[in-house]
Amino acid sequence: MTQQLELPMQEYLNKNIKEIIGEFPPVADVLNGYDIGCVTCGLGTCLFKDIVGIHDLDPGEEAALLAGIARVIYPDRAVAIPKIERKSKPKSGEVSYSPPMKKLVDEHRLIKRWVAVIPRFIEGLDVTTEAGRRLIRQGIDFIQSYADKFHHAKEEAILFKCFDEDLDIIRTMCADHENARGRVREMLAALARQDRETIAGNLEAYRELLTEHVKKEDEILYRWMDRNLSMKQVGELFAKFHEKDIEFGDTPQKYQEFITRLENKFNTEEKRK
Ligand SMILES: [Fe+2]
Ligand SMILES: [Fe+2]
Repeated sequence: MTQQLELPMQEYLNKNIKEIIGEFPPVADVLNGYDIGCVTCGLGTCLFKDIVGIHDLDPGEEAALLAGIARVIYPDRAVAIPKIERKSKPKSGEVSYSPPMKKLVDEHRLIKRWVAVIPRFIEGLDVTTEAGRRLIRQGIDFIQSYADKFHHAKEEAILFKCFDEDLDIIRTMCADHENARGRVREMLAALARQDRETIAGNLEAYRELLTEHVKKEDEILYRWMDRNLSMKQVGELFAKFHEKDIEFGDTPQKYQEFITRLENKFNTEEKRK
């Protein structure tokens, strides 16, 4: 008699991997066999279906991993192995980052959009009215809350910890972050005394600093790091970044809206000229 194949694995794909390991401890051994250290990760917030995508297994390894896990969950019957949807591979010539590094590159996009509006932001600096000062405070808040607390903190507190932090390139990146924090302090002090020129000078210096900084990270640092991270570290990074995202809630969306508002404001003003 032909054995009936079922698709019950599907329900597990949307479950948290730590929950599955809690229910079926030998699943951890199967994952370890592919250097996927969900147990030692300590977070385990990833869904089972994401684990495969994050670790970028080849199709053969993916099928074998899923079959191994299916044997643990359903030891007494054969079940069909579901296909996991993958995002399309980048076209040749495009840089491919690991999923956690891609997250940081995507965060840079918003920082680059901010950097791109800074020249028009400087032109419009108005320290003499409450509305003008509010806009300056919002710009500084983007630097402090999004670029620094949300993004740079992921690099300093999580990513850089995977490497020797005495490496020149990492020290340089941290010095850039510190430099940006100094610019913020100077701008806040200048805002309190309504000193337009100092704010403009620091914003321009920040623009130059971040333009180079983001370029170095996107084009050199992250690529080098990706080549040196183990599959287990990639998974751990993804989980830790995900935890940070949860901690920060709607922060990215709030600042995305702020940058879009700025872009619209300056575009509209430019069209009126
Ligand atoms: Fe950075
Ligand atoms: Fe960065």
